[in-house]
Amino acid sequence: MAAPKTTIWDLEPHTRAKHDILRRYLQAWIPILSLGGFPEIIYIDGFAGPGRYSKGEDGSPIIALNAAVYHRAKIQSTIRFLFIELNKDRAAVLQELVDEIDRPKQFPVTIFSGVTFEKAVYDLLAEYTSRGKQLPPTFAFIDPFGWKGVPFSTIQRLVNFPSVEVLITFMYEEINRFLSLPNQSEIFDQYFGTPKWREAISIPDPRERNRSLHDMYLEQLHVSARLRYVRSFQMRNDRDVTDYYLFYGTNNRKGLEKMKEAMWKIDPSGEFKFSDATNPHQPVLFGREPQFEVLQEQLLARFRGEQTTVADIEEFVVAETAFRETHYKRQVLRRMEVAVPPQLEVVDPPKNRPQGTYGDPSLKLRFR
Ligand SMILES: C[S@@+](CC[C@H](N)C(=O)[O-])C[C@H]1O[C@@H](n2cnc3c(N)ncnc32)[C@H](O)[C@@H]1O
Repeated sequence: MAAPKTTIWDLEPHTRAKHDILRRYLQAWIPILSLGGFPEIIYIDGFAGPGRYSKGEDGSPIIALNAAVYHRAKIQSTIRFLFIELNKDRAAVLQELVDEIDRPKQFPVTIFSGVTFEKAVYDLLAEYTSRGKQLPPTFAFIDPFGWKGVPFSTIQRLVNFPSVEVLITFMYEEINRFLSLPNQSEIFDQYFGTPKWREAISIPDPRERNRSLHDMYLEQLHVSARLRYVRSFQMRNDRDVTDYYLFYGTNNRKGLEKMKEAMWKIDPSGEFKFSDATNPHQPVLFGREPQFEVLQEQLLARFRGEQTTVADIEEFVVAETAFRETHYKRQVLRRMEVAVPPQLEVVDPPKNRPQGTYGDPSLKLRFR
């Protein structure tokens, strides 16, 4: 899709899916941080848009603000909403919408109109660091139309603070289409934070090229930005072509669990497919009954012949697979334990342990 020139544009089905994920995630993230006792938390919408689509549907900044204002839990923290929008007309529409929302003082909104994401983040960090302060827990939604204005160094600077997490739209289709344009190379250098993207230009097979660019960005987030957990999600359109990826990066395992929960709840409309794409060799489709046999295969590939613990298995499932912490006990471990012959042995089980229960994280297991 070419970037719209108008102030407001039509909502596409795959954007609706993205919004659904954002809404569900924030509904979980806000009370976790608030109940965790943080006096202040920050939501950044780095490419905010006008806050509304042509048929009146909410845009991401309004979705985020409403997630706090209408939350069932009593939110104790102050949540600073920072909405950054370079286009002043779009920012003006957003300002009107924000003004219409009746909200308590604890949810202050700042709209950076006519300001770039890069500059606004720079100023925000300066505001805290000049007072010798850390950035409070922050969620940044980085949702550009393409690759311009999203230097990797800005993302790096943000996530350098330990409690910052990011959800980034990686506009694969646009990036791929313009990759070989010579006048864009400097901007792509900034975007990827490495000159390595040039290697992808000469890859003739479109799938391999796709994988190469995806893996490069994933690695940048892991290695250069030092985010502990990074997962990617692929949105394919009705022609089965990759439209975009969402990259989620965090240092907080609870955040990762909640993001996956949001992903698994997505309801595909038939107009798009949405899958976990972190391991491109084994994409796992969301929105339907989890394929437990895939999780079993992954557990065997990782732990076969080894003695391990329930805690280690859970860390692996949450951090290294598309599956959730709720997916592996009953539907996988239990089935393997009761199989004939058993595929899973419990080492030195406590006397009264009922078969097929894994409540104790230190319980030792051996995969056969
Ligand atoms: C994909 S749209 C955002 C949609 C919005 N996040 C939503 O989900 O409803 C991208 C927006 O970023 C704005 N934009 C473009 N370059 C920018 C920059 N460097 N900094 C901030 N905003 C920018 C565009 O004007 C556009 O409104």
